[in-house]
Amino acid sequence: MASPLILVSNRGPVTFQPGGEVKRGTGGLVTALIGLATHRDVTWIASAMTPEDADTASRHGGRAFPVRAPGGGEYMVKLVASDPQAYERFYNITANPMLWFIQHYLWDLSNAPDIRRNETEAFEFGYNVVNEDLARAVLEEIEGLEHPVVMSHDYHLYTLPALVRQARPDAFLHHFVHIPWSQSDSWRVLPSMIREELYHGILANDIIGFHTRHYRSNFLQCCDDLLGLEVDYGRGAVQLEDREVWVRHYPLPIDARAVQEVARRERTLAFEEELLRRRREFMILRVDRADLSKNVLRGFNAFDLFLEQHPEFRERVSFIAQLMPSRTDVPEYTEYLERIEAVVAVVNHRHGSPDWMPIQLKLRDDLEEAVAAYKHYDVLMVNAMFDGMNLVAKEGPMVNERAGVSILSENTGAHEELGEYALSVNPFDIQELSDSIHAALTMPLAERRERLEGLRRVITSRDPGDWIDEQLGDIAGKDGLTRGVVQAREA
Ligand code: G6P
Repeated sequence: MASPLILVSNRGPVTFQPGGEVKRGTGGLVTALIGLATHRDVTWIASAMTPEDADTASRHGGRAFPVRAPGGGEYMVKLVASDPQAYERFYNITANPMLWFIQHYLWDLSNAPDIRRNETEAFEFGYNVVNEDLARAVLEEIEGLEHPVVMSHDYHLYTLPALVRQARPDAFLHHFVHIPWSQSDSWRVLPSMIREELYHGILANDIIGFHTRHYRSNFLQCCDDLLGLEVDYGRGAVQLEDREVWVRHYPLPIDARAVQEVARRERTLAFEEELLRRRREFMILRVDRADLSKNVLRGFNAFDLFLEQHPEFRERVSFIAQLMPSRTDVPEYTEYLERIEAVVAVVNHRHGSPDWMPIQLKLRDDLEEAVAAYKHYDVLMVNAMFDGMNLVAKEGPMVNERAGVSILSENTGAHEELGEYALSVNPFDIQELSDSIHAALTMPLAERRERLEGLRRVITSRDPGDWIDEQLGDIAGKDGLTRGVVQAREA
């Protein structure tokens, strides 16, 4: 009989809120794994991130419980509560900002980070503890299973694979990294002991997957430069003493039908009506987590410059920015939100009029509201400094009804696939971004349509089922064993 695929990630598909409300987890990882969970028989192990998550976990006696997928179907979720102090160090010091900032080149190195006991102890008594807790949950779940397959996800779980490997050498371990893999010198910020533990942790996997060819080659280069390992760049393999690790890239597709389904919901239509009532001639849109990597400030500064250089567009265009507050216990993130609000105030003051507010800032996480705006943008701005994939760049064009143009940073993973049909920008070049806004707003309809169709063709050429099949195909190819889970076909 086929055994379920074991997924493990820090953030799970649902978070339980005070008062019993159940919220869908945010971010690209959750979107990807929900896609996976609806295509395969999975058990998804994740951290309990709120006290209500921890209560729910204990109400289920720490065992997996069923969760309904938004598009129908059910999958099993097991939430793991760690010691709150350990979790706080894991999430707010080591994973964010430390690793996230390294992998997105966000550290301003002449100022930060300082590595002190606070940081090294957060790794030892925070990051490692949460990885141990989740590894234990994985081991419980695969007990008694022959040749299990465990897929772990992202930068929160680099040390977990080594723990699972040690206890279950027969398990097939696969890791997908949803964020960029940065070049080797960026990793030298970390004390060498921590760096080595992280790399040995992730190299305990059989296969490591990334969104792009570029991250894959950065990872191989890091193994070569930082660890002196033997690397085969052509085949994408790292040679360890007793085994070989495959390093692959699998660009994440979106579930286009799921986005179209959200576009038809009652609540989305209500937002749409409101939006259309208030809209100006043109709308520029961005939808992001309020994360430093998303480059929100330069986006607004480019809009400011555009209005200054093209006064004929005043009063005719609004910039809607829907930003979901994120990681608000990390000081860098709260400070970033404050800077965003300050820049918006300046731009609105400089250009606005009594009945026109150039930038509308919506600091909330609302999928239907975002999708309503996707339908009506003229320009979609995705100008991240660095971004693993960026799913907004794929979701927006699928439901847009105005032949909207995508402005896309060349440092997003999505650019490897969509660059040809978008207006590519260097995210640091504010003049170029401002010129692209102008180019997009003055582009002939025929070209806009052609570009949008091109984007849709690429976006729909693969779906989440393909993404999983490519990975399972490689698992079967590398493994040589016929694991039940690999044979299981989509229900
Ligand atoms: C990115 C990361 C995910 C993370 C998500 C949301 O997509 O790759 O691992 O879950 O951001 O961030 P959060 O800290 O809220 O989980």
